[in-house]
Amino acid sequence: MSNNIESVLQEDRVFKPTEAFKKQANITEEKYQQLKKKASEDYEGFWSDLAKEKLSWSKDFTVGLDDSNPPFYKWFSDGELNASYNCIDRHLAEKEDKLAIIFEADDGSVEQYTYKDLHDEVCRLANALTAQGVEKGDRVVIYMPMIPQAVFAMQACARIGAIHSIVFGGFSAEALRDRIEDAGAKMVITANAGRRGGKSVPLKGAVDEALEKGGDSVRKVIVYKRTDDDVKMKDDRDISWHDAVAGMSNYHDAVMVNAEHPLFLLYTSGSTGKPKGIQHSTGGYLLNAHLTNEWVFDLKDSDVFWCTADVGWITGHTYVAYGPLSMGMTMLMFEGVPTYPDAGRFWQICQDHGVTVFYTAPTAIRALMKFGDDLPKQYDLSKLRLLGTVGEPINPEAWMWYHEVIGRGECPIMDTWWQTETGAHMIAPIPGVTDLKPGSCTKPLPGIDAHIVDEEGKELTHGEGGYLVIRKPWPSMVRTIWGDDERFVDTYFAMFKNKYYVVGDSAHLDTDGNFWIMGRIDDVLNVSGHRLGTMEIESALVSHEKVAEAAVVGKPHDVKGESVFAFVVLNQEIPEGDARLALVQELRNHVAKEIGPIAKPDDIRFGSNLPKTRSGKIMRRLLRSIAKGEEITSDTSTLEDPSILDQFMQPNK
Ligand code: WTA
Repeated sequence: MSNNIESVLQEDRVFKPTEAFKKQANITEEKYQQLKKKASEDYEGFWSDLAKEKLSWSKDFTVGLDDSNPPFYKWFSDGELNASYNCIDRHLAEKEDKLAIIFEADDGSVEQYTYKDLHDEVCRLANALTAQGVEKGDRVVIYMPMIPQAVFAMQACARIGAIHSIVFGGFSAEALRDRIEDAGAKMVITANAGRRGGKSVPLKGAVDEALEKGGDSVRKVIVYKRTDDDVKMKDDRDISWHDAVAGMSNYHDAVMVNAEHPLFLLYTSGSTGKPKGIQHSTGGYLLNAHLTNEWVFDLKDSDVFWCTADVGWITGHTYVAYGPLSMGMTMLMFEGVPTYPDAGRFWQICQDHGVTVFYTAPTAIRALMKFGDDLPKQYDLSKLRLLGTVGEPINPEAWMWYHEVIGRGECPIMDTWWQTETGAHMIAPIPGVTDLKPGSCTKPLPGIDAHIVDEEGKELTHGEGGYLVIRKPWPSMVRTIWGDDERFVDTYFAMFKNKYYVVGDSAHLDTDGNFWIMGRIDDVLNVSGHRLGTMEIESALVSHEKVAEAAVVGKPHDVKGESVFAFVVLNQEIPEGDARLALVQELRNHVAKEIGPIAKPDDIRFGSNLPKTRSGKIMRRLLRSIAKGEEITSDTSTLEDPSILDQFMQPNK
């Protein structure tokens, strides 16, 4: 088998759906052709029919797509619905006792919530939020560990029409404050701490710190006590979750909202400094969240679906909190880390809970692959029937390992390409239909009009790399950047004069019409599947008193995909020896404080100036070569001072 893995360098292997899979698939070849035909003949009708069939509306819509003001598209915009009603209430008649959430905590303890339990928890919290003064349209920041209460909080916000904005628990107080302020949040929902890898991860302290120097819009902070750690509560502002829900009714009439009402904001990194608040709608978002779970993950009533993503990322929104629940499925949540108590944890969870569909990131697969084949083989993974990946390109070696060792050579691998902005899968296989090639996310889903174009916007066929663009608006597309319509237009549409949504990735097509994602075209890094803006990390470095200037690039990394490599110019002498090593540490910690530990540079090098052209432009290409340890063979004569390259090439000793 390991020979197989090594032989897949030039990828020309094709994995066809098995007969057994095809027979039971939600989407058969015939159905797939019908969907594609309908989408090409009547695009608006295609989505409208699906929206009527899959979602429950309190007021039916009469308009499918409203494209009167491009690129501000609206879908189903005279209809009304509620996302939480669609995820919970509508299932109760038939599935009251069906498990909605299976939760495994860091310490291995398990909790289960039926749809009725979920309903009661969410209703009590929705009533509590209302009692605390949260109204429709208010923003609520959620800063929580990966526990069911995070999903209750999302659902409770959706239920009352409040707009949630989750900030990943790994982000620092500073990053949290920026997001609270940009969103103008009225409330923060947090926990005293979470548990990961046997340790407490404090959260409430960061909320206090964030609100000490700003975040003035926040009136109330609800604190869930997750661990035994002490928690300081501020009078008049903080209230414990326990007290907030005490005595609250488990009945709550979901507030019906317009289909275009924002369901949530989620901040993500872009090319420029400040993270962008990606605004999603209620109706369109929920439709694609629902459909992609049905089409790509083939979810059925008998499945146990586990998506390992944290709710702090878009994957945790669409494939933990909304999609599986909208379909009335059983989903699993896990609080901990894949390597605690050992690197068999994921496989133990799959075995113990009979997981059938499993979705994770290539970085996790690569990390676990390093522990060898024997570890997963100790577990019974026979219930697994479909596997998925997301977040970054998967290298064929990791794809093969996932397929052979985890999937017994039987489970199809869904390599799903999408983004925070797209809301749901865009280019991904349909498991009973699509031929798979390791490393390719295959073909656009029915109704998704993806193309690759050159700089002039001319469509490229196979072979050549170009810009990945989406031509027609789709229901779950980003509606705007919160509070910044202009930046929305500039970022995604200006490049081709509003003709396309520009993804920010480059890609190429093969002769079978499969898409191969090549990487970002902007200054965004993908570290362990997490998006980080180089500018954000540069500003964090420059905010340190000893730093005058900084440039950050990505360095290829065999587990993380990319790691952060920083070039720093100090406003003092470059220290030597231990003092230099101490400064490296100080700067890494500073970045962790400003953004979060995920943004810490793996490497920091010092020089007396950054390599710039005579017109002052930083030559990132050269910095990328240094980061990779490549010899610089290109002409450096346009550089103002070529000798500084030597400085940056010196490792710190
Ligand atoms: C990258 C995560 C290759 C891509 C859902 C995209 C991928 C960015 C894949 C979005 C994939 C995501 N193959 N690259 N299957 N999936 N990407 O917003 O660069 O955190 O633009 O959304 O991740 O990252 P985001």
